[in-house]
Amino acid sequence: MLDLGCHVGGFVVHAAAAGVTAIGLDQSARALEFARRNAARNDLTSRTAFVQADMFGALDHPDLAGPFGVIVFDPPRIATGSQGRERAVTAMARSLGRLLPRLRPGGFLLACSCSHHVGRSDLDAALLAAGARDLARVHALGPGPDHPVWPGHAEGEYLRVNVYQRRAV
Ligand SMILES: C[S@@+](CC[C@H](N)C(=O)[O-])C[C@H]1O[C@@H](n2cnc3c(N)ncnc32)[C@H](O)[C@@H]1O
Repeated sequence: MLDLGCHVGGFVVHAAAAGVTAIGLDQSARALEFARRNAARNDLTSRTAFVQADMFGALDHPDLAGPFGVIVFDPPRIATGSQGRERAVTAMARSLGRLLPRLRPGGFLLACSCSHHVGRSDLDAALLAAGARDLARVHALGPGPDHPVWPGHAEGEYLRVNVYQRRAV
C-alpha cells in the first residue's frame, strides 16, 4: 500500500498491522517523525517505510515505484474557494497520472478531499483528466460521527473519500 499524505501514519499503521507492507509519504518532517514512532510502538517497523516528499511533485523516490494493491491519495485542503477548484483538479490529475501506472489490476485507489469546494465529481474529473478509463467507483464514503454535519451548514460537509477499483474494460 502507498499512502500519500500519511500524516502521523494512521492508514499505514492499520494496514501494516493487518499484514500489509505499507509506505507513507508526507511533506511534513514532524508528521513523519510521529508516523515512524507510531509504527515502532506497534512493532511494525519491518513492514513500514516513510518518504518525505511532495505529493504533487515528481514522485520518483525508488520506494514509490510499486506496483501497489492500494494507493491512498489524501491531499490537504487544496481549494479554499470555488475559484480554486479547477486548479485543484489539474494538480490532482497530474499526480494521479503519475500514480495510476503503479496500481495493480484489481487494486484500489482511495481519492480523498477535505476541501468543501472539491467534491466527488471533482475527484472523478481529476481521475478522467489523468487518463483513467479502467477505474470504477465502488464506494463513496464520508465523515464519521466525529465530524457531524449540521443541517443548513453545507460547508460542514467537506470530507469525501471515493474508492475506485481497477477493472478490466
Ligand atoms: C488531509 S491530511 C491527511 C490525513 C491522513 N491521511 C490521516 O488519515 O490522518 C493531509 C496531509 O498532507 C500533508 N501534506 C500537505 N501538503 C503536502 C504535499 N504537497 N505533499 C505531501 N504531503 C503534503 C500534510 O502534512 C498532512 O499530513
